[in-house]
Amino acid sequence: RIAYVNGQYVPHADAAVHVEDRGYQFADGVYEVCEVWQGKIVDVPRHLERLGRSLSELRIDWPMARKAVEFVLHQVVRRNRVRNGLVYIQVTRGVSKRDHFFPPEHVAPSIVVTARSSNPKAAAAQAAEGIAVVSYPENRWPRVDIKTVALLPNVLAKQNAKEHGGKEAWYVDADGYVTEGGSTNAWIVTKDGVLVTRPAESGILRGITRTVVLDLIQKEGLTFEERPFSLEEAFDAKEAFVTAATSVVMPVIRLDGKLIGNGHPGSVATRLREVFHTATD
Ligand code: PDD
Repeated sequence: RIAYVNGQYVPHADAAVHVEDRGYQFADGVYEVCEVWQGKIVDVPRHLERLGRSLSELRIDWPMARKAVEFVLHQVVRRNRVRNGLVYIQVTRGVSKRDHFFPPEHVAPSIVVTARSSNPKAAAAQAAEGIAVVSYPENRWPRVDIKTVALLPNVLAKQNAKEHGGKEAWYVDADGYVTEGGSTNAWIVTKDGVLVTRPAESGILRGITRTVVLDLIQKEGLTFEERPFSLEEAFDAKEAFVTAATSVVMPVIRLDGKLIGNGHPGSVATRLREVFHTATD
């Protein structure tokens, strides 16, 4: 396997950043994960757009021109012969002696790109079965709209889910409303067949997969509402699912040990998963 690190393609086993990288010391960096599907990187323009937004919110410069980043993404996918899988990009504020203040002007951001293959059959089997999710009190900082590598709360929430038989955590805010998953956006389908997901303006990351699914919903003429939904409403839903580049549309069949609907992947989620790649760039 090959990784890209600050201008060089290196064997994955030797790929490393400096111990004084600010990503390592302060989680002072941002990232993107793109799906690779049938040899193509899905929704590159949208991912680079969001990367640019994350960088600018943290006042980190682009490590190189956006076009060059795009080229490297494709190179890393090609050099690793990934047909189906993921490509990961991380940009940090760079290497400088540990000091909370931003480093001197001349310090360049660090960039790392890696890619790996996944097994489409295993993913399909998982989607046919559905996943269990476990709720968790929202305890993240308010800037979850920025895709930073500071993911410790997400790690702890997801690990808790795993230890309770789940594959994902659903954060629940102080008012009892679901915000999003540990690494996914959260959706329900009500008993009346209305799709519900939380508005991207409040307390969630604006997922690219979420945006594509919203496009699809309109194309398919399904009814939807962008509004917060409570954990109670989710227990009572006909269906639930999560969306992310890593799992596309993944049905949720259990929430805190209670079955959602009939305990099987719902028809809406299954349909959206089937047609998902017709709506991507
Ligand atoms: N996670 N919400 C959170 C907190 C996320 O970390 C992610 C993505 C999403 C979905 O975004 P998108 O549809 O653009 O992938 C929502 C990535 C995949 C991860 O951390 O692995």
